[in-house]
Amino acid sequence: MKTIVYNVHENEIKECMGAFTECADIIKAGGLVAFPTETVYGLGGNALDAFVSKKIYAAKGRPSDNPLIVHIHDMSQLSDVAEDISEEAEKLAERFWPGPLTMILKKKDIVPDATTGGLDTVAVRMPSHKAALEFIRAAGVPIAAPSANSSGRPSPTCAEHVLQDLEGKIDAVIDGGTVDIGLESTIIDVSGKVPVLLRPGYITTAMLEEVLGKIERDPTLDRGVVKGMKPKAPGMMYRHYAPKGDMAIVSGNTEDVIRKINELVAPLEPEKTAVITTEENKSFYKGCKVVCMGSRENEETVAKQLYSVLRKMDEEKIEHIYVESFDKKELGDAIMNRLVKAAGYKIINV
Ligand code: TXA
Ligand code: MG
Repeated sequence: MKTIVYNVHENEIKECMGAFTECADIIKAGGLVAFPTETVYGLGGNALDAFVSKKIYAAKGRPSDNPLIVHIHDMSQLSDVAEDISEEAEKLAERFWPGPLTMILKKKDIVPDATTGGLDTVAVRMPSHKAALEFIRAAGVPIAAPSANSSGRPSPTCAEHVLQDLEGKIDAVIDGGTVDIGLESTIIDVSGKVPVLLRPGYITTAMLEEVLGKIERDPTLDRGVVKGMKPKAPGMMYRHYAPKGDMAIVSGNTEDVIRKINELVAPLEPEKTAVITTEENKSFYKGCKVVCMGSRENEETVAKQLYSVLRKMDEEKIEHIYVESFDKKELGDAIMNRLVKAAGYKIINV
């Protein structure tokens, strides 16, 4: 299959209507279209068609017990796919939609088991990217979309990443340039008595608690996958975002971290070894490739570059990767969550 690329611009949605109409036709015919959101690119298909969900899993090479997020473009679509929408869910939607928040709610029968991995809940998100909203509106159905990467690879933050993984396997990609945030949406389960954070993201715990009061945190977020305890978001269980090389996080106070990383890289081949650092510390490393991922002063710059930096590790065939840790507060919580998975839970404490 030839993957068609449609170029659109977020600020020129009206001029791009032809592209959205063609993409909507692809969706109506049961095809797959990757599209930009403010978080990462999604791989979209009709959420109400079990056959389409199966195609999404096949294109990504993803296990089919890992449920998809259903994307909507306005509030009227929420009650099409979910029921028992609590007051808490309504408050969150009011405050954060459209935006980088996914809510787990009780599903309606119209949503096939193939989309929710057999669960009786459904993940729903209204993205804020204008191209995403227009695409969903034109399609006329809720859009199931996981991140548009091959399973296990870092999520795509630009259309080139999508093509690297899925060219020839999907009908089209809407190229809207590089995304804003760079990390997947925050996921909160509001289907039970107490809201539970399942995946940290741009909407931080503090922001959620401002609306809801105290929320819980899925225990596996901090302990990794403990035997006998499964994360409530099945996708959080899988090794993720991982570059091919060996990767470890080095954690401790800055001076110790820098000294330890320099010690670790010293005996290794400089061409095949990399340290992932930030503006603040990049001049302190020697004897390896030094890759800078934004500034600690503004962690949004780190979030935005994280996945492209991880992809670069594979492109440059790096075999040993060391990365500095981040404080698990505010956006650092989401950054560390993705790094820890990318490193396969390998953390060196100094
Ligand atoms: O920012 C995002 O959320 C992006 C863009 C495209 O919107 N999408 C995304 O989808 O990250 P994906 O499939 O890569 O991650 C979805 C996560 C998985 O960890 C999955 O297990 C969880 O959401 N999930 C989906 N439905 C669920 C449910 N009913 N209960 C618990 N977790 C669920
Ligand atoms: Mg994903």
